[in-house]
Amino acid sequence: VSAGRKFAIVVAIAASGLAGLIASLTVAGASATESREAIDQLKAEYARPGAVPHPEDNAFTPERERLGRMLFFDPRLSGSGWISCASCHNPGLSWGDGLPRAIGHGMQQLGRRTPTVLNLAWAEALFWDGRADTLEQQALGPIEAAGEMNLPLDEMVKRLEHIPGYEPHFDRAYPGEAISPETVAKAIATFERGIVSGEAPFDRWVAGREDAMSAAAQRGFVLFNGKAGCHACHAGWRLTNDSFHDIGVAGEDVGRGALLPPGMDVGRFAFKTPTLRNVALRAPYMHDGSIATLEDVVDLYNRGGVVKRPSLSPDIKPLELTAAEQHDLVAFMKTLTSHDPEARVPALPR
Ligand code: HEC
Ligand code: HEC
Repeated sequence: VSAGRKFAIVVAIAASGLAGLIASLTVAGASATESREAIDQLKAEYARPGAVPHPEDNAFTPERERLGRMLFFDPRLSGSGWISCASCHNPGLSWGDGLPRAIGHGMQQLGRRTPTVLNLAWAEALFWDGRADTLEQQALGPIEAAGEMNLPLDEMVKRLEHIPGYEPHFDRAYPGEAISPETVAKAIATFERGIVSGEAPFDRWVAGREDAMSAAAQRGFVLFNGKAGCHACHAGWRLTNDSFHDIGVAGEDVGRGALLPPGMDVGRFAFKTPTLRNVALRAPYMHDGSIATLEDVVDLYNRGGVVKRPSLSPDIKPLELTAAEQHDLVAFMKTLTSHDPEARVPALPR
């Protein structure tokens, strides 16, 4: 490897980040060492973070997490008394419900699919359309929502006050504060931040174990970051940019468009990029559950989307992937699955 060439590659990487890496991967005649270096640089973009971040005004304590876990699994937080957060965010189904669209109060089907609550401590926007900024802000929404748990918040506080077993847990978690919508939201948010996917084969490969991933999955990783362009949105260790895009899924739901001034194309039919961690465990896919398998997802991208509207992201275009390349992409996504310890369902206060 000539020193000059190597230098040029490093400069390209420094100058344009991923784009430079991709360019160096696709330079005709790049030596094995060069592409290896480029892949190592790419891997670094996906390294797992250390500690889970918690906000200053709701710092982590084990008592807060314990209380939050109880509230998350407690169906008494619903009008009917039989729907908990975990009814839809079921740990056995990768913290989703496995349905195309959620079913809430009165067995009503909701408009959108239940997203996972995995790895949200790092999320910058919540809901498919990003209408909540923090887990604390988000937590009370489903309790009150008529279609979800259907319990007015004043009623919720009364119910919790009438369960004597809850009082000491609130006291220890938030000393001097009342049982209130705020403390309920903070406890649930603390519990949710602890829901983190464990090490997957991909992480072991990123950490340097070459045999942790098949050759097909390794080719899939290069495609993901190169020809298939997936990294434009599924970036970083959670494989999401927390941003909103129209990727050409058919349907009438305008997603983020409903929150933006009318008359704009940008943001219409845009939904939050979902994390791909443990994605193989969460079919069916997309905000409306309209895509059955990972193979079908790759087919959608390969065609450049099902519906081509003015709002379609410029990063979505026909990819011309061969059948083998499509297979490799799916093989890569399957290496993102971690085998986590079974979630603990708490005994609830009486
Ligand atoms: C009836 C099913 C149902 C119940 C019960 C439910 N959720 Fe959800 N949850 C959903 C659906 C559907 C969405 C997506 C809604 C949207 O984006 O418009 C969602 C979204 C979320 C999100 C945002 C995830 C993301 O990636 O943006 C969080 C966090 C969340 N729920 C937590 C909770 C908590 C906490 C509870 C209990 C207090 C709860 N949910 C109860 C179905 C449910
Ligand atoms: C322009 C940004 C963008 C690009 C590029 C992109 N995605 Fe996505 N991806 C999204 C968004 C946004 C969604 C959710 C769309 C919806 O729900 O309507 C999504 C959904 C998915 C899902 C479904 C996840 C779930 O839980 O429902 C998978 C799997 C996926 N993408 C894989 C890929 C692969 C593989 C590529 C490359 C071939 C790719 N994506 C390229 C933004 C993008």
